[in-house]
Amino acid sequence: MSHNVVVVGGGVVGLSVAWRLAAENDVTLVDPAPARGASWVAGGMLAPVTEAWPGEEDLLDVGGASLASWPGFAADLGVELYTEGTVVAGFDAADAAQLDIVADFLARQGRSVERLTGRELRRVEPTVGPSVRSGLKVSGDLAVDNRELLRCLTSRAYEAGVEFIREPARAVRAGAVELAGSVLRCDIAVVAAGAWSGALHPALASAVRPVKGEILRLRARDGTLPPPRHTVRALVESRPVYLVPRADGELVLGATQYEAGFDTAVTAGGVRDLLMYAERVVPAIAEYELTETAAGLRAGSRDNLPLVGALEPGVLVAAGHHRNGLLLAPITADAIRAMVAGVEPPAEIKSADPARLER
Ligand code: GLY
Repeated sequence: MSHNVVVVGGGVVGLSVAWRLAAENDVTLVDPAPARGASWVAGGMLAPVTEAWPGEEDLLDVGGASLASWPGFAADLGVELYTEGTVVAGFDAADAAQLDIVADFLARQGRSVERLTGRELRRVEPTVGPSVRSGLKVSGDLAVDNRELLRCLTSRAYEAGVEFIREPARAVRAGAVELAGSVLRCDIAVVAAGAWSGALHPALASAVRPVKGEILRLRARDGTLPPPRHTVRALVESRPVYLVPRADGELVLGATQYEAGFDTAVTAGGVRDLLMYAERVVPAIAEYELTETAAGLRAGSRDNLPLVGALEPGVLVAAGHHRNGLLLAPITADAIRAMVAGVEPPAEIKSADPARLER
């Protein structure tokens, strides 16, 4: 049965949901600036393994299931995946102890992880600097060029018949999405507005919050060493940093994490810290061109799990994806499509049910 669905939010989650829903439904997507926001700023890691932390087993399960969907999702979109995997670097004894905790946790989850000395890590990823003392090699993590992904998603959504309304939404309720001067009637509304979702429906008011992240883009120049082949994550004396290579010589370097409301200013201190820590991990970046600085707002939830499911009859939510919006886009889109069709969603998404907000 076909429904009239309005999706509020055109980041990676909203676009994926709208595109997948359009296979069976009439879909309208509401966003004043689709394909921007946190999805445009993102690093592009599809990394449940190295984003997971003990106590976050449910998140690892959802992330693992979504990662397994990524090759098919990318093929349908015509977007390329980076498959070299992730290496993780540590500097001091405390970093090595943290890497051990992560490695033990991942091994218990049956994930493939190899512990390395600094020297072994440099053999795997020669761009890593001489003061790195410990490491991990994690196979199976993927990466994607987030901007290419957004271009492909937007094109596929248009081709599938999604109608775009470039206006902000004011509120979402059963059967209606309120815009500034009009109301869109619908069978089902989907709140997928990332960090802005909390303002759209009362059930989300204290459930989703902005978590600021600053990110830098650098580019290798003639005569400089090339960027790393792997995604490189590091703890630099307990400060986390990651470097994600792109095919064209660009390197995305991130990311700060602050609770700063809706502030998206890039701070001098944020840029300084990212460059300082990243240069210790991959010294060659000091000679690269700094091409862009940006800040985005992740949609944080209380338990770092996303919110995917029903808020009330006729209103679904797909938000709160925090550090994992790109990774979780395929499973979120599959789940919302199943819920709209009235069939069973993927089992792993159950832990993301917003009903937990009431408990
Ligand atoms: N997933 C990376 C970040 O949120 O910075």
